[in-house]
This record gives sequence, C-alpha cells and structure tokens, in this order.
Amino acid sequence: MPGSEPLGPNVIAFTGVGDPAAYPVAEFGRTLRQVLVREGAAALSYGPDPAGDESLRRTITQLLASQGISTSPESVLVTSGSQQALALVCQVLVRPGDTVLVEEPTYDLALRLLRAAGAQLIGIPVDTHGLRVDVLERLLEQHRPRLLYVVPNFQNPTGATLSGPRRHALLATARAHGVPVFEDDFAGDLRYSGRATPAIKSLDDGGHVLYAGTFSKLLMPGLRVGYLVVDGPIRRRLVETKQVTDLGTSLLLQRALDRFVTVGRYQANLRRTTRLYRERRDTLRSALTEHLPDARFALPAGGLFCWVALPAGVRSDALVRAARDRGVDVAPGSRFFLDPTHGAGHVRLNFAVQPPERITTGVRRLAAATNSLR
Ligand SMILES: Cc1ncc(COP(=O)(O)O)c(C=O)c1O
Repeated sequence: MPGSEPLGPNVIAFTGVGDPAAYPVAEFGRTLRQVLVREGAAALSYGPDPAGDESLRRTITQLLASQGISTSPESVLVTSGSQQALALVCQVLVRPGDTVLVEEPTYDLALRLLRAAGAQLIGIPVDTHGLRVDVLERLLEQHRPRLLYVVPNFQNPTGATLSGPRRHALLATARAHGVPVFEDDFAGDLRYSGRATPAIKSLDDGGHVLYAGTFSKLLMPGLRVGYLVVDGPIRRRLVETKQVTDLGTSLLLQRALDRFVTVGRYQANLRRTTRLYRERRDTLRSALTEHLPDARFALPAGGLFCWVALPAGVRSDALVRAARDRGVDVAPGSRFFLDPTHGAGHVRLNFAVQPPERITTGVRRLAAATNSLR
C-alpha cells in the first residue's frame, strides 16, 4: 500500500504497487536529461496552464483514443496521480453528509479519502463480473447519492472486470438519476488475457462520467502523474481547485513523460511490463492451485491483484499475522470493506511485485500459515 512501513528483505511481499525492478530508471533518466538540454529553464517553471502541459494532454488523448475514448486536450486535467483526481472531485462535489456509492469491497485509500471529505458511504456488492448493477437502481432511489465511484477494470481488490452489458446498464441508470460516475481506470492497459471492454467514458455522450487514469501502475508511481477527463461546467471548478491546491503538477516530469511516450519508450516499457506481470499472475495461479487447493479465486484478466477466498474457518486478520511470522506480507480483506468484518474470509495478493520463484516460495509459506490456523 502507498505509504506503508518498509519490509525486511526476507519478507516476501504480496503487497505494494508494481515491481520497482521493472521501472525504466536509466531510460527515464536519459529522457529527463534530454528535456533539460532542449528546454532549459522553461521546463523548470510553473507552466502556463494549471490544467497541465498542453503537449502531454494531447499525448494523453492519443493514448485514450487507442482505447476508444475520444476526447480533446481541453477536456484533460493533469493531476498528481489519480488519487488527486478523486480528491479534487471530492472537494468540488462532495459536502459533509453527502452520500457516495462505492463498490464493496473497493480500494481502501478511496474509502479513506471519501470518509475524510465527510461522505456517507454506501456499498454496492461486487461479483466476478464487477459491480452488481441489478441493485444499483434501488440504491440510487433510496440514497440519492452525490457520486458513484467505480473501478471497472481489474478492480482493487477483487481483480474483477465490469462486464460490457453492466457498463451500459450502470451508465444508463446513473444518468437517469443524474448521478455523476467517477471511473477509476488505474490499470486498464495492464491486460494479460481476453479483449478490452470499452471504458464507461467511451459510452458517455453527456458528460456524466469523470474518467481518471494514471501512469503509476503502467509506468512508475513516483512520477505522481495522473489525469482526469472531464467535460461541462464542473471542469472549470476542478481546474481552479487544482490551481489553488498545488499550482500544477511538476512541469519537468510532465515534459519528460510526454517525451517518453512520444518517442515510443512508454509503449515498449508497457509491453515488457505486461509480459512480466502476466507470467507472475500465471505463476501465482499454479502455486495457489498446488499449495492452497481449498482456497478459491478467480483469475484476473489484468492488473495487479488476486482476491483469495480463504478455506472455511480461516480468518484473514489471523492469517495476516501468521503469514508475517513466516515472512510473507498479504493484505487482509477487512481493509477494503465499509464493515471490516465482511472481509474476514479474504486476502488480497499483489502478484506483480515478486519474481516467479519468490511467488512460489511465498505461497508455500502462506499455505503453511493457513494450515497452522485450521
Ligand atoms: C484503484 C486505485 N485507484 C487509484 C490509485 C491511486 O494511484 P495514483 O494516485 O498513484 O495514480 C490506486 C493506487 O494504488 C488504486 O489502486
């Protein structure tokens, strides 16, 4: 998890973001130097537009076009990670006491952010096809929320992908109730199997969807570069809020990222990362099947996370402690629920962080910890 304690070298962590060993450190260093040589002090200024560097915004629209989202640089707001995109939307839209609908379980730091904004959170259950749209209508009528927060691709923590028909139904239902949708596409390009499902934003012709993307999982989280695609009157308020919050995301990093993408290094790196993480996902599947045969999980089609239902009688908080004693770090299911007791039967494993041999050793240790609790 971002901001958590460093673990010792002998601990096999199934937590964290991606594998730092896969970050293109030398290549990005060269790109940074090239930007400084070509652009000099201009790259070290505040930048003329708090919405972000225009060239990067154009580049982002090109990346989005390849995923079926047709937008223009004027609709893109560069943010310090997608976390800031959600924070800005909260600041502009959510007042203390407002209701926000979230998937349950969902990304823990979104829950903490929304709670800090004073939102009343209502959970929508998730199954293997993502958010249960069959209960959405009733929840919208009952709670009249200010916002719906959804992670449709390779959801954190379940790894589930919201099916195409559900995306259409979600948008139609939210639109009928006048509720904006925050689509958090934190890892949409990290796909290992199957075909991409069109983004909810790509179905939206009325500005109901605020679409957030990020370079954190596809490239490096330390860049702190993400973006929001947003149209309509709310955009101006979001840009103003961004400006007074931090005067803009680092121009140097935006310029370097833009160059990294436009010369093709980003795409090459993404292909390498996808191959690497696909192999790790498959290693995790084999290891779980062999060493924890009575744990249940659905193989995620992409992203970073595998959501594991524990054998009957094994509780996740106890397992996290027993696993720590054996040198494995996993995230307890409780962290991702509004009511933490609902997560007692699950743990979340991030398969992207460790090389294959450590994944297998880690799962063996996790199986030993599980068996010690039966
Ligand atoms: C689902 C989800 N959304 C958003 C974020 C925030 O990412 P960033 O602010 O680095 O773009 C994360 C980080 O783990 C995440 O898992």
